[in-house]
Amino acid sequence: MADGTKDTKSSNQMWGGRFASGPDAIMEEINASIGFDKKLFAQDIRGSIAHATMLAHQGIISVDDKDKIVHGLSTILSEIESGNFEFSRQLEDIHMNIEARLAALIGQAAGRLHTARSRNDQVALDFRLWVKEELQKTEAMLTNLIAAFLDRAEEHAESVMPGFTHLQTAQPVTFGHHCMAYVEMFGRDRSRVRHAIEHLDESPIGAAALAGTGYPIDRHMTAKALGFREPTRNSIDTVSDRDFAIEFLSIAAICGMHLSRLAEEIVIWSTPQFGFVRLSDAFSTGSSIMPQKKNPDAAELVRAKTGRINGSLIALLTIMKGLPLAYSKDMQEDKEQVFDAAESLELAIAAMTGMVRDMTVNTQRMKAAAGSGYSTATDLADWLVREAGLPFRDAHHVTGRAVALAESKGCDLAEVPLADLQSINPAITGKVYDVLTVEASVASRKSFGGTAPSEVRKQIAFWRARN
Ligand code: ARG
Repeated sequence: MADGTKDTKSSNQMWGGRFASGPDAIMEEINASIGFDKKLFAQDIRGSIAHATMLAHQGIISVDDKDKIVHGLSTILSEIESGNFEFSRQLEDIHMNIEARLAALIGQAAGRLHTARSRNDQVALDFRLWVKEELQKTEAMLTNLIAAFLDRAEEHAESVMPGFTHLQTAQPVTFGHHCMAYVEMFGRDRSRVRHAIEHLDESPIGAAALAGTGYPIDRHMTAKALGFREPTRNSIDTVSDRDFAIEFLSIAAICGMHLSRLAEEIVIWSTPQFGFVRLSDAFSTGSSIMPQKKNPDAAELVRAKTGRINGSLIALLTIMKGLPLAYSKDMQEDKEQVFDAAESLELAIAAMTGMVRDMTVNTQRMKAAAGSGYSTATDLADWLVREAGLPFRDAHHVTGRAVALAESKGCDLAEVPLADLQSINPAITGKVYDVLTVEASVASRKSFGGTAPSEVRKQIAFWRARN
């Protein structure tokens, strides 16, 4: 095969027929994609085998040539997998690297593989296959993350913690309920992944350069062989379309945003000031100067990966924006964005799954924090509505005065003496103390999707059946 030592001044062996000389060194450098698209080798070989098999089936090439091609491609696959393949930048990309090697292995028959095909539909196929596999991997990884949260939610269906708005203590919730919020988010991400798989499940091969081909090919046959639902329906769109890559990146960006919110909560929760969770040694690091420290680096890096993923999404949207139909070489810049985002997303999901499974939850700290900050004030107001018949707005006002009183006394609502409460509103009885505990507060919130342990358990059962 071409070994990278060939004179750069000779014209390209794959398409150089009308060229007198080879490319300038800078031209070669800006043009070549082999440095990153070699990742597509397995997809390229699969695609070529399906294409050659179809060509022979349709009588476009001989069965003998097809056999040689398939055999040669299988050899190349093992060469690449075992690290015994020399990639050449002069051959630009993975497609031509493989085809050139095929020619070296089987001779003339190799030249028949590219019948009724162009690199434009070839790259669309390879990349689609790669993104499809990545989406399937993401789906499975999200299922694992959801399973980790379901386990923690079940374990902590009754553990009370402060619920926040504005990061200020709002109302008591259960840690299980909080975990289930993430199950909802990652569940939506996973359904976006499933939709994206459905969208991209059409085979591009056979669109050729942009117009289709005059050879009697069977695109349904290749679509089937490659595991696609059906062939794409418009050859121009087929070679111009990178929606599948952009969809992957947008899903990754949304999922990354969810992961970064979780990462931020873990960073906050694991501070000594909060002390809600303790990360396992496996998912934290020490400080080289402060021996007491345990840093949530993995969570911080997950938070940061989101920035990279967002960058990739914006980069590809910008690359594609304003491109005239059909293929333009700009589109070669699609792959690195997707590869980088895929690597970041995989790492982030895996690290989060590990952290969620491993972290120790300090239920005492959570419960103590849940009770501070007058978190059951709404429960007092609701009691006044229910038991004393006050309109909610009046109850809100009475409760505000009770909170001010507790604040002036430096105690919790539940510690304000009954006589003092009655001086604010005489309808208050000793029974009110039953609703002022955090446990009573969460248990009362039985509305559908509410934080009561009984409701949380129902939602866990709902998701278990779907995971
Ligand atoms: N390396 C190219 C890419 O990734 C393959 C397609 C090249 N097609 C072409 N007409 N030059 O987009």
